[in-house]
Amino acid sequence: MTLYRGYLKMQKKFNKKDNKMRDIFDAIQKSAKRIRKAIDIKDIGYSQQENSSGETQLELDIKCDMIIEEEFSKVSSINTIASEEKEHEEVLHVEGKYYIAYDPLDGSSLVDVNLSVGSIFGIYEGAFGAEKMVAACYVVYGPRTEMVFSENKTKLYLLQADEFEFVKEIQLTEKGKLNAPGGTQQNWEPYHKELVDSFFAEGYRLRYSGGMVPDLHQILLKGGGLFSYPATSDKPAGKLRRLFEVFPFAFVYKTSGGEAINGTSDLLTLGFAHIHDTSPCFFGSKYEINRVKEVYAKNA
Ligand code: F6P
Repeated sequence: MTLYRGYLKMQKKFNKKDNKMRDIFDAIQKSAKRIRKAIDIKDIGYSQQENSSGETQLELDIKCDMIIEEEFSKVSSINTIASEEKEHEEVLHVEGKYYIAYDPLDGSSLVDVNLSVGSIFGIYEGAFGAEKMVAACYVVYGPRTEMVFSENKTKLYLLQADEFEFVKEIQLTEKGKLNAPGGTQQNWEPYHKELVDSFFAEGYRLRYSGGMVPDLHQILLKGGGLFSYPATSDKPAGKLRRLFEVFPFAFVYKTSGGEAINGTSDLLTLGFAHIHDTSPCFFGSKYEINRVKEVYAKNA
């Protein structure tokens, strides 16, 4: 009897945790549906504001940021949010245990040429930081709207008639065929160029749209490959932001059986000093990441 009560208590605790994550999952879905509509109907003008990375914010970026903040404000388990569009983090509910860092509309300048864009979410427990990450999610707004949510497994959902429907679990293969090399080539280190070329020499195909979300999504869904955004002479700390872009995708790739490194170290072992800190990053299947490690161990 005591054992059974203990079991029920454990179940209750487990369900409670599940419900809190469920609320976040629901809030992301609601945001995604509203953002999809905003992309479809909104004129894309430039605002007078700049974000903390010095980029002029599109009105659409600001609108998407507001949508997510509004939906997250209704979820009491969310303590603090940090957005790529906000200079500082914001406390929503002091009692909440989750900290969420998000990029409301990554690659937003691609909307005016009608390429895919996305929202990225890193969900942290107790504080921001790679080691505190408990789940990650991204949404791709392309011809279709898809959502990928990673907790213990990585799952793909498709927006159908205003509801996200589960499609399948995602698992990366050991070796892929796609190569997505980011950054200005002129500013790559010579050993990085050799590394990228070595994959093409092996038959890898180039896939790079300039949107991190669709580029990484394509590699995940087409079985594997490599996405790289290295340190360059003009951006020695890389371009992509740790909390909003790099850590969430590292979590998704690792949960899906792939790897994510900065050249030498696992991305999820890195710290951060400021919420907008960046890092060089490589995401891929095991085969490609091992090659990156070999080259970077010798050169970096
Ligand atoms: O976050 C910025 C971003 O737009 C990413 O989505 C994308 O991967 C990257 O910049 C592209 O940068 P670049 O044009 O330097 O390759």
